[in-house]
Amino acid sequence: MLILIIPFFGVANFWGKTGHRVTGHIAEKHLTGKAKRALKDLLDGHSLAFVSTFADEIKADRAYSKFSAWHYVNYPLGMRYEDSKKSKYGDLITAIEECTRIVKNKNSSREDRVFYLKMLIHLIGDLHQPMHASRAEDKGGNDIQVQWFGEGSNLHRVWDKNLILSYGMTYTELATELDQASRKERKKIQEGTIYDWVHESHELCAEIYDSVEVGEKLGYKYGYKYNNVLFNQLQKGGLRLAKVLNDLFA
Ligand code: ADE
Ligand code: ZN
Ligand code: ZN
Repeated sequence: MLILIIPFFGVANFWGKTGHRVTGHIAEKHLTGKAKRALKDLLDGHSLAFVSTFADEIKADRAYSKFSAWHYVNYPLGMRYEDSKKSKYGDLITAIEECTRIVKNKNSSREDRVFYLKMLIHLIGDLHQPMHASRAEDKGGNDIQVQWFGEGSNLHRVWDKNLILSYGMTYTELATELDQASRKERKKIQEGTIYDWVHESHELCAEIYDSVEVGEKLGYKYGYKYNNVLFNQLQKGGLRLAKVLNDLFA
C-alpha cells in the first residue's frame, strides 16, 4: 500500500485555543455589570472563552485573508512600536484600535459590532503571546526549528501551544489557578496602554530568542525556565481584556 505523507509547511500562527480560552475565562470574572450585559447581548449568551478562538477559525477562509496580518506585529528588537515602520497590511495594534472604534461606534451595524468584538477578544490574547510581538526575519520564530520532547516544532509553536499543552490542564483549571491576584495587584496589571503591553511582550520575545539555539532539544528544562512567564502573560491577558471591555462598554 502506498502511504502518502503530505507535509504541512504552512505557518500555524495562532496562540493555541487553550491560551485564548484561559484569557477569556479570566476576563469574564472581572467584568462590570454594564459590560456583562452588553456582552451577553452581542455574543448571544456565549462566553468570552467560547468566542475567543473565532478569529483563528475564519483564517482558512480566503474571504477573510485581509485579517491574517492582524494577529501579530513585527518590528526590530530593542525598538518601541511607536517608533517602528508600520506595515501597509495593518498589524495587531492597528487591528485592536480598529476593532475598538467599530464596536464603540453606535452607527456600526450589529453584525459588524459582533464580528469586531469577537476579533478584539481574540487579539488581546495574541498581544500577550510574546512571539506575536516579534521580528519579521524569522516570522516571529516560525522559521526557527527546534525539538519539543523529541518532536519537530519551532520557537513560535512552542509558545503558541507546546508549553501550555504540556501542562495538561484544561482552560478552566488553568484560569482558576492563574486568577489569584489581589485587587491591588489586578489594578497594577490593568494599568498602561496597549503600547505598554506590546512593549512588554516584545521585550520578553527578545529574551526568548536569546535563550535558544536553532535545532535545540527543548523539554522539561524549558518549562522550568518559562512556565511562570507563560502563566503571567495569560493572567495579564485576561485582566487586561476585562479592562478593555469594561472601558469599551462604560
Ligand atoms: N507571520 C509573520 N510574523 C508572524 C508572527 N510574529 N506571528 C505569527 N505569524 C507571523
Ligand atoms: Zn501564534
Ligand atoms: Zn491569533
